[in-house]
Amino acid sequence: MRTGNDTLDPSSRLGPSKAPIAALAALLLLLSAGCRKDMYDQPKYEAYDPSTIFKDGTSSRPQIAGTVARGDLRADSAYYEGKADGKDVTELPFQVTAETLELGRQRYQVFCTPCHGRLGDGRGMVVRRGFSPPPSFHAEYLKKIPVGHFYNVITNGYGAMYSYAARIPVDQRWAIAAYIRVLQYSQDADPSDLTPDEKKLLADASEPGKPTNDVRKSLAEVAK
Ligand code: HEC
Repeated sequence: MRTGNDTLDPSSRLGPSKAPIAALAALLLLLSAGCRKDMYDQPKYEAYDPSTIFKDGTSSRPQIAGTVARGDLRADSAYYEGKADGKDVTELPFQVTAETLELGRQRYQVFCTPCHGRLGDGRGMVVRRGFSPPPSFHAEYLKKIPVGHFYNVITNGYGAMYSYAARIPVDQRWAIAAYIRVLQYSQDADPSDLTPDEKKLLADASEPGKPTNDVRKSLAEVAK
């Protein structure tokens, strides 16, 4: 007599003779599951895995001399290395705008002030806490140095100062280099460069008892 249970029991459905075959098939299935390889787990080298194939013992291969990775052609050496004919460039290799200088100011204050100080005098907070002091950007030799030098120091580091190549992209390095020139000028402006209006304001500002805010306001208007 058939019961509800009989229909659920596979061995009774297959009949007694087929039961061992089903058991064997199930076992094979289980075994083959152990050999399964997923695509995300394929046999392959991860970066810098060792390898016996190559003489240098690493699977990572250097770029073949003379080849350029796609999108990585840096033929403009003035822009990418700050050098022309092996020497630091003396002029910025792009058109400077007010935005460039603003970007430079902002990036300088993020990355450089801790040591070089907001004025570039080399008295940043880290230095005041004991780090070896950098030279002031207002030193005579740094005022005369080609602007490409600043780009190179940011890119490659200099003495005790480490490289910022990994942290600051090329365009921002140049913006900072341009801003260092602004800092230098800010401490070394020649009064004879001022317009007559500006000269008058400067004279007013030095007059004792003149309310400073008024002078500031007029200066801001002249600057417009
Ligand atoms: C952790 C401190 C520190 C930070 C941050 C730092 N510098 Fe320097 N920098 C130094 C020191 C120290 C020297 C002097 C290195 C030496 O002579 O060994 C130096 C040297 C320099 C010089 C070279 C001066 C020369 O004599 O030719 C330049 C240019 C310069 N830094 C620019 C920058 C700029 C731009 C930034 C920001 C992107 C920056 N530095 C961030 C510490 C720092």
